[in-house]
Amino acid sequence: MARNWTPDSWKGFSAAQQPDWPDTADLDRVLKEISGMPPLVFAGEARKLRASLGQVAAGNAFLLQAGDCAESFDEFSAVNIREKLRVILQMAVVLTYSMGVPVVKVGRIAGQFAKPRSSPFEKIGAEEIPSFRGHIVNDSAQNLDARRPDPARLLTAYNQSASTLNLLRAFTKGGFADLSRVHSWTQEFVGSSPEGQRYESIAAEIERALLFMRACGIDVESNPNLHEVDVYTSHEALLLGYEQALTREDSLTGDWYDCSAHMLWIGERTRDLNGAHVEFLRGVGNPIGCKVGPTTSPEYLLELCAKLNPAQQPGRLTLISRMGADTVEDSLRPLLKAVKASGHPVVWACDPMHGNTITSTTGRKTRRFEDVLREIAGFVKAHHAEGTWPGGIHIELTGENVTECLGGADALSDTDLDHRYETMCDPRLNARQSLDLAFRVAELMRD
Ligand code: PEP
Ligand code: CO
Repeated sequence: MARNWTPDSWKGFSAAQQPDWPDTADLDRVLKEISGMPPLVFAGEARKLRASLGQVAAGNAFLLQAGDCAESFDEFSAVNIREKLRVILQMAVVLTYSMGVPVVKVGRIAGQFAKPRSSPFEKIGAEEIPSFRGHIVNDSAQNLDARRPDPARLLTAYNQSASTLNLLRAFTKGGFADLSRVHSWTQEFVGSSPEGQRYESIAAEIERALLFMRACGIDVESNPNLHEVDVYTSHEALLLGYEQALTREDSLTGDWYDCSAHMLWIGERTRDLNGAHVEFLRGVGNPIGCKVGPTTSPEYLLELCAKLNPAQQPGRLTLISRMGADTVEDSLRPLLKAVKASGHPVVWACDPMHGNTITSTTGRKTRRFEDVLREIAGFVKAHHAEGTWPGGIHIELTGENVTECLGGADALSDTDLDHRYETMCDPRLNARQSLDLAFRVAELMRD
């Protein structure tokens, strides 16, 4: 257990990116209510994920972490959750089949609501209004009323997370994720596309392999590994009051766990070594992540590892590099070298999204599929050069047929972006682009 740590010890440190709540008494009342509510996940599940990530750290498995940039209260539906899960399952099948290692599946889901912002205010005409900070805080509509932080939203976020997780558990344990249904994970609009067909041929081979095993007398029916999957939840631990309210002492071990999700991460804007976010996450037993951007120094990173994982527990800490496609190789290599030399058993994952955000000619915030791929290629190359394991990818995607990122399988252009640009925050890969990405990543990892 961490020394000199309590679930509220973060309050003695400065917390970046917290909303300016207009009524703190109201906030305290809501947080008290949430602290009396059931945990969303169990400590034992978080430990199981930590063990699986330990396998990633050792180079025996691969991490696929994916989902929305920001989940929405308005887009909340069973269909939406199912479609996101489908894409994640499809990508995982492609990666598992091509790489021959287990894929640890973690969604940016069931709690990914709070967003850090580069500026606390946004200028709308002559007026300055508070920035949108995610549906857990305020609404994205561009007026003062919508942007006022409202603590009641914390409760809505908790409830939406609970129902999302409930459905995810039903889908992953109740038959939907059964490997014999591998064909049915393809969405209609993906089915006839080249990457859809490519997926179909893998699915057919898996089906044949299952028949083969059955013919050999292997009891395929009763092996749970073929009928259920583990899909874990994760989000950025940004609103520390909310995270604290869901932090509970595990009756089995006496350790503290943040039971709002299996895995929590610290963002690029809140990873100050002496800040409240690092203080909070160092004391919870969950597997945790930290974004690592281009300004990160080896010295900083070693201090971070020592602070967040002093016991050097494999799977405890995932470093999510988000350097930008142009600089990833050069920026990453000294960091890989330093961490390797220190002996810290981290998972290295590549977020190829946040270092490659551009503005389209039509004024949309977007990303080029080619840049996303180029960053992953540079990430893999840097690892090969340093003799470390490129452990996974961290992707912003959706199961819908949106038009938010440029290029890729359906060659979306600047002018296409207007057709279905639906994200509340950063541009996401659509289902076709995501599946295509999985094939390309599998190729990069095999070469
Ligand atoms: C994010 O993951 O949505 C995000 C804000 O990333 P970063 O902290 O790396 O900018
Ligand atoms: Co984002």
